[in-house]
Amino acid sequence: MQTAICPGSFDPISLGHLDVIRRASRLFSRVVVCVVVNRNKHSAFTPEERVDHVRRVTACFGNVSVETWDGLLVDYAARFEEPVVVRGLRALSDFEYEFMMALTNKKMNPRVETIFLAADEKYTYLSSSTVKEIAGYGADVSQFVPPEILGDIQRKFQNRRNL
Ligand code: PNS
Repeated sequence: MQTAICPGSFDPISLGHLDVIRRASRLFSRVVVCVVVNRNKHSAFTPEERVDHVRRVTACFGNVSVETWDGLLVDYAARFEEPVVVRGLRALSDFEYEFMMALTNKKMNPRVETIFLAADEKYTYLSSSTVKEIAGYGADVSQFVPPEILGDIQRKFQNRRNL
């Protein structure tokens, strides 16, 4: 059985991410969201917090599960019989990095396919970095993130401002 793997940092998950996961859940019978620990990036949220966020906002999809992974994506994908990595493409600027990642993963393990979903035009501008920057100034991010995690984001950045 094919398994769609939606990998990402999800620091934090945005409405754009959620849109891609929702669409993958319609295209594939099984979807696993892989919250990557990512050693090269400093994250605002711990892996546990990010997994908790993703679980809460995807709880309504019957075929989506969430796991965390500290390692190469290709090694995670190799655990599945027919792994298909699903990534959202927002703009041409995403393409170079995504193409490199897809080809590198395929080179390391030819069983690992990658497909891209064109981001909904509503979300082509949206990134987790933008969400964090806006929240860092104490401004409202409710139009960018799922309502279930808005309070967590506000609290995280409120606490940082109070440090
Ligand atoms: O949400 P992001 O930060 O754009 O996701 C990028 C991510 C986590 C999917 C990518 O950095 C990744 O796959 N990291 C795991 C380590 C890895 O496999 N690196 C080699 C990529 S070719």
